[in-house]
Amino acid sequence: MYKLVIQGGNALHGTIRAAGSKNSSLPILFASILADGPITLTNTPHLSDVSTTLRLLMDMGAEFILESNNDLFVDSSKLTSLVADYNLVKTMRASILVLGPMLAKYGEAKVSLPGGCAIGTRPVNLHLKALEELGATIEVKNGYIYAQADALIGTDIYFDQVTVTATENVIMAATLAKGTTTIHNAAQEPEISDLCNCLNTMGAKISNIGTSTLTIEGVKSLSGVKYSVCPDRIEAGTYLVAAAITGGSITIKNMRHQSMRATLGKLIEIGADIKTENNSITLDMKGRRPKAVNIKTSTYPNFPTDMQAQFTALNTIADGHSSITETIFENRFMHIPELSRMGADLTLEGNTVLCKGVKSLTGAHLMATDLRASASLVLAGLAAKGTTTIERVYHLDRGYETIEEKLKLLGAQIERVQD
Ligand code: EPZ
Repeated sequence: MYKLVIQGGNALHGTIRAAGSKNSSLPILFASILADGPITLTNTPHLSDVSTTLRLLMDMGAEFILESNNDLFVDSSKLTSLVADYNLVKTMRASILVLGPMLAKYGEAKVSLPGGCAIGTRPVNLHLKALEELGATIEVKNGYIYAQADALIGTDIYFDQVTVTATENVIMAATLAKGTTTIHNAAQEPEISDLCNCLNTMGAKISNIGTSTLTIEGVKSLSGVKYSVCPDRIEAGTYLVAAAITGGSITIKNMRHQSMRATLGKLIEIGADIKTENNSITLDMKGRRPKAVNIKTSTYPNFPTDMQAQFTALNTIADGHSSITETIFENRFMHIPELSRMGADLTLEGNTVLCKGVKSLTGAHLMATDLRASASLVLAGLAAKGTTTIERVYHLDRGYETIEEKLKLLGAQIERVQD
């Protein structure tokens, strides 16, 4: 196991390139099951969740090659097993995304129920209900989902609650269904639009992309494709906060600012100078201390839950009082006790954290718990006085490509050391 050791206090300055999006790469990799031939992806990030997805597909008979130019060649067109085993699914909940494609292509699937995780129980009832409405027969027993469908029939799907991966499962299932499916109250995250654009390049017929009402006209088959994954707006947002919390400046290349409006709006509120060019974002704090900012997470295009922990860390050293309300997940405050151990003044009341900014945090020995909570501990360590050690860095590696290398490039004193 590895840990990160950070000597805090350096203002970060420099330029980095946004990696490809984790939450776009995963559904697109699972969509390879739908294709009659191989797909080649460019700009996929080097993350453990991507490796887990490739291992899961390989266990079911897919082949992949990571080319020397970093292109990822994946052929999932002839699966030999329709079982997504517990041993892999338990490490990555997004494995539920095999369900829709397998039902659409093969008419059956046996998928381990993804457990909960640190941030919540993470049920999949909305996935199963929608797939049954498309004509699947689904039984859950002994910790597995047994799904079967002679044919999926297009229909109107109404989601009571906005759900990202359930929307993605239904989109993928509907691409090969008989007839037309309309998804009402669909999630609108940019990663869903990226999946839809990739599927249309494969021959799918999806319209109203980027809206909450998606229409999918079923087609006979989908072909292999070469596709470039969109940049990761959460990774980019995390590095923007890293510069903001240390009073520095940063330019993020290859990032579409249009998908980050809510995050950039909050960074302007904390007092950052923000400049956006066609494909890059520059933030400059000019050495200023951030101003406290109130946060309330919601569904896209509002403030993303995946940026909540990072802005909580920012608020701990900001000038003034703030409140941070989490409305998406029931337990996404695992970073609070750890930040408090660094001297943060935080009070948790239900799904809201009340924060009183302090002049500075002090380094401490910390434990990472989930992906974005771990990122917030790194950000706090960058700003804190003294040394911060963060255990269980594997949580970070799920969603951040070589985080310590990128931070070192920006002037951070950070090392990855063996436990
Ligand atoms: C996706 O998770 C993302 N993961 C999450 O990113 C992100 O935080 C989340 O969307 C919200 O934006 C991927 O895209 C791989 P949901 P997902 O279904 O789809 C409830 C990260 O850090 N719900 O939109 O699992 C659910 O419990 C990760 O990169 C049901 O009740 O989230 C939650 O309260 C973390 N039943 C709410 O809906 C269901 O069947 C929204 O969850 C499905 C969801």
